[in-house]
Amino acid sequence: MKQDMIVILDLGSTENTVLARQIRDMGVYSEIHPHDITAEELAKLNNVKGIVLNGGENRVVDGAPVDVLPEIYACGLPVISIDHPTAKCDKQYDALPTDEQIKAFVFDECKAEANWNMKNFIEDQVELVRRQVGDRKVLLALSGGVDSSVVAALLIKAIGKQLVCVHVNHGLMRKNESEGVVEVFRNKLDANLVYVDATDRFLGKLENVADPEEKRKIIGGEFIRVFEEEARKLEGIDFLGQGTIYPDIIESGTKTAKCVKSHHNVGGLPEDLQFELVEPLAQLFKDEVRACGIELGLPAEMVYRQPFPGPGLGVRCLGAITRDRLEALRESDAILREEFANAGLDKTVWQYFTVVPDFKAVGVRDNARSMGYMCVIRAVNTIDAMTASIERIDYELLEKIADRITAEVPSINRVVYEITKKPVATIEFE
Ligand code: XMP
Repeated sequence: MKQDMIVILDLGSTENTVLARQIRDMGVYSEIHPHDITAEELAKLNNVKGIVLNGGENRVVDGAPVDVLPEIYACGLPVISIDHPTAKCDKQYDALPTDEQIKAFVFDECKAEANWNMKNFIEDQVELVRRQVGDRKVLLALSGGVDSSVVAALLIKAIGKQLVCVHVNHGLMRKNESEGVVEVFRNKLDANLVYVDATDRFLGKLENVADPEEKRKIIGGEFIRVFEEEARKLEGIDFLGQGTIYPDIIESGTKTAKCVKSHHNVGGLPEDLQFELVEPLAQLFKDEVRACGIELGLPAEMVYRQPFPGPGLGVRCLGAITRDRLEALRESDAILREEFANAGLDKTVWQYFTVVPDFKAVGVRDNARSMGYMCVIRAVNTIDAMTASIERIDYELLEKIADRITAEVPSINRVVYEITKKPVATIEFE
């Protein structure tokens, strides 16, 4: 293993991730583990150089006071407590330590080396995956999103054709997106890729369904069924690769190992299709996942892709989806993306897309009254998607986009720009 590691034990602090970032920013890899880790579990982690006990103000988990097991204090590794003034370790601080104090602990006391970088991370993960998987096979649902793409590239590097990627095109992808997945993974990376065009099946199930939550349920449920059918066709698969990243684990509200495990279910696959999980990105923050993707040679547009909802264009083709409106949505979205890229806004705006509501408006085309769809442009900025502000787009650019959309997408005769913040609106319309 290439990288030294500092282990942060979570005794109920809300600042664990801040601390992990602080240590990683010093060039030393750090992982957060539950307070009740045993000495045996700790010994299985690679290259641990020191332990930070992090309990916030009270050292309370799930309402009860906690401490680490006595064997952790006795394991011989340097320990620092950055919380509780009465902590049982030899070193104590009254206030949260400064960057300098953490540096002194990490480098002087633990003698950790600043060797945390993506190249070393990838080499370590490749070795760990090879150890875990041996000569067996791993299945991966490859959506083309950042996380699944990076995990696919990493697993291809580790185990090549022992990885079977399944890409389900539900017909609600953006323009050229599925084609891009095939191009990068099958043609460039020589992946073992199963491409399933399930467009008719999804659109059939969604016919006349207008309720947003019902649409989401159908898309999610159908996705699992299609994936399961493909999994059953394949022989001898023992593992499921997942693009789980660190925020996924934090967002499931975890403080202890027990909670972490509840996150690790296979998202509804039937009992007889249970796999062991391979999750090489589980300790990475989003920006680190992107850096990992670039280091693995994935194209920048895939790695820096803006967030795209799992139900895809399905929740932007408002109400009951029809093929003509879906097409209008896909084409208008592609024009918006192209113009944003030309203006350099693709690098600065967090999320931008078009929406097509399920009604027609009156317009004039070729000197005659005609009914057409309306296209809504939405462009927002946010840190965490909990609140969002609108992007103040230049009017000339907006007009250019409106002209292009109405000229190139004949079924659209109106373009509007949405200017509502979240809250009170949400980012998506459904
Ligand atoms: P809202 O609309 O709730 O969206 O403000 C916040 C962020 O989440 C994305 N989003 C989804 N992502 N499945 C997803 O994977 C979904 O069903 C879904 N709904 C919204 C949305 O694009 C935005 O970035």
